[in-house]
Amino acid sequence: MTSSPPRQSGAAQPSAADRAKQAAAERACAFVQDGMRLGLGTGSTAAFMVRRLGQRVREEGLRVVGVPTSSRTAALARDEGIRVVTLDQAGWLDLTIDGADEFDADLTLIKGGGGAHLQEKVVAAASERMIVISDPAKRVARLGAFPLPVEALHFGLASSERHIARVLDHLGYGERPVTRRMAGERPFISDEGNAILDLHLGAITDAAALADALNQIPGVVENGLFIEMADLVIVGHGDGEGGRCELIEAHPGLAEAMARPRPRQEDPFAAIGE
Ligand code: 5RP
Repeated sequence: MTSSPPRQSGAAQPSAADRAKQAAAERACAFVQDGMRLGLGTGSTAAFMVRRLGQRVREEGLRVVGVPTSSRTAALARDEGIRVVTLDQAGWLDLTIDGADEFDADLTLIKGGGGAHLQEKVVAAASERMIVISDPAKRVARLGAFPLPVEALHFGLASSERHIARVLDHLGYGERPVTRRMAGERPFISDEGNAILDLHLGAITDAAALADALNQIPGVVENGLFIEMADLVIVGHGDGEGGRCELIEAHPGLAEAMARPRPRQEDPFAAIGE
């Protein structure tokens, strides 16, 4: 009798980039401790993190609350059984874990490829610590190959675009394309109901000067540069056996300090209520 060929699972093999994202997300979740108030990032890497966190909640009885940075992440977190609260309910957060579109040697980030950088920045700014999870492709010598997202009000959008062009000229970028983010045929609308403009800069020379100048424009709500916000970047690698991660700290010793066990609290979320 001949044996039948092995059955194909039908599921596509994950790409090296996805294995890298998953490795980084899982390593980051090892920093999550019982009783933490967490900021939950947005994007495909952050989705791996939310799923792993959900697994820890279900399997280990980990008690956490999560503040999602987008409606997409909120839906996924709820599906995973993570208790979702608003930032105002949570107050100050222990840790935010989020992805990035680019990061450099100073751990300055470009975010907003998913159009969620406004909530992501508000949540990260309200967190004691921020871990960025990444695949190797996001690490750059100079920021700016990825178009810089800028969230802007619909009101006076054309005049905001003119101000942006002037700012870029003044800062020495010259004439650079600024495009309106689309979702298929229609303009993309952020969770806050705003437009996203993508600034195609090629290379960013002084991130702080650019971020400050953009945020001075009245119709600009927030730009996608995250400066001095990331404490730790975890770069996953999808090669070989998988699961290999590099930890890049903003200051030496941060990862060790973040991994130090916290005392268990009886009722960590009593102040939030049910
Ligand atoms: C969303 C973001 C994401 O973190 C960023 O776009 C990275 O996404 P991905 O993990 O899918 O590559 O800033 O606004």
